[in-house]
Amino acid sequence: MERILILDFGSQYTMLIARRIREMNVYCDIVPFNRIPSITPDIKGIILSGSPSSVRGENAPQPDLSGVPAGLPILGICYGAQWLAWKHGGNVTSSGSREYGRAILTVKDSADPLLKDVPASSQVWMSHGDTITALPAEFKVIASTEAVCNAAFKIEGKPVWGIQFHAEVHHSEFGKQILRNYVLGICGCAGSWTPASFVDSTVVALKEQIGSDKVVLGLSGGVDSSVAALLLHKAIGEQLHCIFVDSGLLRKDEFSSVLESYKGMGLNVKGVDAKERFLKDLSGLTEPEQKRKSIGRNFVEVFNAEAAKIENVRWLAQGTIYPDVIESSAVPGASATIKSHHNVGGLPKEMKLKVVEPLRLLFKDEVRRVGKVLGLDPHILGRHPFPGPGLGIRVLGEVTAEKVTILQEADKIYIDALRSHGLYDQIWQAGAILLPIKSVGVMGDERTYEYTIALRAVTSVDGMTADWVRLPYDFLAEVSDAIIRGVKGVNRVVYDICSKPPATIEWE
Ligand code: XMP
Repeated sequence: MERILILDFGSQYTMLIARRIREMNVYCDIVPFNRIPSITPDIKGIILSGSPSSVRGENAPQPDLSGVPAGLPILGICYGAQWLAWKHGGNVTSSGSREYGRAILTVKDSADPLLKDVPASSQVWMSHGDTITALPAEFKVIASTEAVCNAAFKIEGKPVWGIQFHAEVHHSEFGKQILRNYVLGICGCAGSWTPASFVDSTVVALKEQIGSDKVVLGLSGGVDSSVAALLLHKAIGEQLHCIFVDSGLLRKDEFSSVLESYKGMGLNVKGVDAKERFLKDLSGLTEPEQKRKSIGRNFVEVFNAEAAKIENVRWLAQGTIYPDVIESSAVPGASATIKSHHNVGGLPKEMKLKVVEPLRLLFKDEVRRVGKVLGLDPHILGRHPFPGPGLGIRVLGEVTAEKVTILQEADKIYIDALRSHGLYDQIWQAGAILLPIKSVGVMGDERTYEYTIALRAVTSVDGMTADWVRLPYDFLAEVSDAIIRGVKGVNRVVYDICSKPPATIEWE
């Protein structure tokens, strides 16, 4: 398998570079700048990413490229370009022109293969405090902007390029073309990495890795664990044992319908009813982190008890995907723990299970494409993301059976309405939240004093940032009416109009 290596210096855009390359059907890996693997023949090129650091700073990230063969193409982007220039004796200063946002790039050397089919002048996206003010002697300028002379360069006689702008960002009009020129042209990648080829090669690899061993996997009803299960099922069939825990915190009727659908896909799956235990453990808890920990702990305990019943099981399969892998190995600095997301994990040591993660190379939308190739039920494939702790963090404050039922009813009315109005698939995620306050209303001639439901719907690309969906007023009116009429215990419905940041998608 051919691949491009991306050295991460901590830029917020590093993941985006990987996305762009994957879109060309070329596999790529992001590795921290100080953990460069040995350069095997499958590596066709190296990209040096951007960084919040300055090359002149004391703690500036310094990669050791001594193990990189001279003929391997290198492309530095932003910090990566500055580092190349600085390392070869050029000048990088903060007193030059800073640029943030759009700039017009003028091509100086249209014969350069990096700029093939890039017009003489086009828009690019800049975001840099430092500027390369003087290039080393053997470097040649191949494009400039009005403010930055050395916006793109090439080292003469070597396959090394640098660009000051962010080609990976959508606002760089010909950014994709430049990255294609590099990956497909200069590095010579074939672009044959597709979901179907991924399935074929992964199935072969899983068969070899697992042999005749047994594997246990926790299904959540979500896309990742479902696709991981189907891939493993294709590779090892009945050797895969799936466990699907009913925490009582799923959407209305979802446990039974998803369980049926898993069985319909041929999976060897055991449904475990643990509703009471989850509720009991949540009783009296109001603080969101404590609630999350309680739910997480119960998942682990129920899963462990079930896994231990499978004789001679050797492997634990997980639906870990690429962003999870990157997050846990990323250049430190960026992300503080806002909420503790939980995974099934922490199996008893005596079980000594080895971990298999068949999706660890894939982004979310790639997981969906693989799921489609594998024939995953379209209902599961197209589902909105749903948090592991489920409705436990959408019933704000203390969770009780009564409140979960109220929320399930209201949520169902809302989600069904989104579907019947053709809105569901345009939205990243939607759900209802039960607020822990009661307010006064009037129904018929009666005074009521009941709960409030908040509706949330957001658009997002990756869940990291999100904006609230401008749902039509008439639609909101219809849903509000239906909930208040149909759900006993609710007399008020409100709509959440906050983006993330500053709010988060879930309320707890
Ligand atoms: P927040 O609320 O942090 O959510 O803006 C971002 C995305 O993550 C989902 N989410 C979770 N997913 N386990 C999960 O698997 C969790 O504990 C969890 N908490 C939040 C949330 O639904 C949204 O898609």
